[in-house]
Amino acid sequence: MEKELVKELIAVAKEARQAAYAPYSDFAVGAAALTKQGSIYSGCNIENAAYGLSNCAERTAIFKAISEQEVEIEAVAVVGATAGPCIPCGACLQVMAEFRVGKLQVIMANLKGDVLIKELAELLTTPFAKEDLE
Ligand code: THU
Repeated sequence: MEKELVKELIAVAKEARQAAYAPYSDFAVGAAALTKQGSIYSGCNIENAAYGLSNCAERTAIFKAISEQEVEIEAVAVVGATAGPCIPCGACLQVMAEFRVGKLQVIMANLKGDVLIKELAELLTTPFAKEDLE
């Protein structure tokens, strides 16, 4: 993936982080999902007083894309105030696997400028998939 596009996705994720609703963890996260059509959807984490209902930034961004009928995701960037690059949780990796096209790139970053890029398949080797339901 082009360096400029990586930078743009990180910038969008960082901006989206400002909208995080995270009064319980006080840990704001931003994300950006790039679709095959070339659109970029932003997302933030959205928590709830019933903690288990909280939604991660990555899933917010992906669900926004899906709800606009853009169901092929090529890359997801995530930014948090972590010591190293912010790593997506397993639930978000599973959701990425559902909508991935090609070698979905996961771009993990923090506020200090650390960036780690991996293919989804490296982070989640054996997702549960459609075929498993047959
Ligand atoms: N969180 C995300 O939004 N994305 C991640 O990659 C890690 C965790 C959120 C979930 C929760 O709102 C807060 O960060 C603390 O776990």
